[in-house]
Amino acid sequence: MILTAQETHQLKKAPHVPDVLPIFHERWSPRSFSDREVSNEALSKAFEAARWAASSYNEQPWRFLVGRRGTETYKKIFESLGEFNQKWARTAPVLILGVARDNFTHNNTPNRFALYDLGAAASYMTLEAASLGLHTHQMAGFDQDKARNLLGIPADYLIGSVIALGYQDEPSKLGDDRLIGQETAPRQRKPHSEFVYESWQTPLPLA
Ligand SMILES: Cc1cc2nc3c(=O)[nH]c(=O)nc-3n(C[C@H](O)[C@H](O)[C@H](O)COP(=O)(O)O)c2cc1C
Repeated sequence: MILTAQETHQLKKAPHVPDVLPIFHERWSPRSFSDREVSNEALSKAFEAARWAASSYNEQPWRFLVGRRGTETYKKIFESLGEFNQKWARTAPVLILGVARDNFTHNNTPNRFALYDLGAAASYMTLEAASLGLHTHQMAGFDQDKARNLLGIPADYLIGSVIALGYQDEPSKLGDDRLIGQETAPRQRKPHSEFVYESWQTPLPLA
């Protein structure tokens, strides 16, 4: 018995923790995307959230190339994806490539935090998308040089991740047992004690 999309969403959602914003527990990364289009309004809201992320020297080094299915940008991003990611991402209505300017504008010195800042903006974007009922799935599995060449990304921009964005579909539509298994498996996370320290590798007692 394959779980339905709704059952899968319920399983994937992290358990609610009182006084923690529910949206952090709502977001997860599906691979089954429906072909339902995403409105400009929803995209605009998602990028509004990205816009207000903090960044070193307020450089806002992030740039997002957005491809809607059927456009040249979509085709180029899709072509850059690895075989595994192409298998499932082809139904996503929107593919986004995040890049970051690697020099500060104010003094043209290297910005060691450019990718860090891009990650923060991307996180805000994925959380806003989740609050709109959308889903996102970030990917490192793509050919960076191919993406750079096909999309004409200048050398002074670092390549971040590709993000598939759209609405969740039925896991059965993935049509592949391994992908369906991953789609319907519970999510795992480390406990706080493994990553919140009071001294190196000594957990901060929180409870
Ligand atoms: C930078 C980054 C790269 C990722 N690359 C891939 C990828 O190439 N293919 C894929 O299927 N998932 C990829 N993922 C998704 C992760 O596997 C997923 O976020 C992780 O298992 C946690 O699951 P969750 O997002 O549902 O919480 C990537 C996620 C991030 C943040």
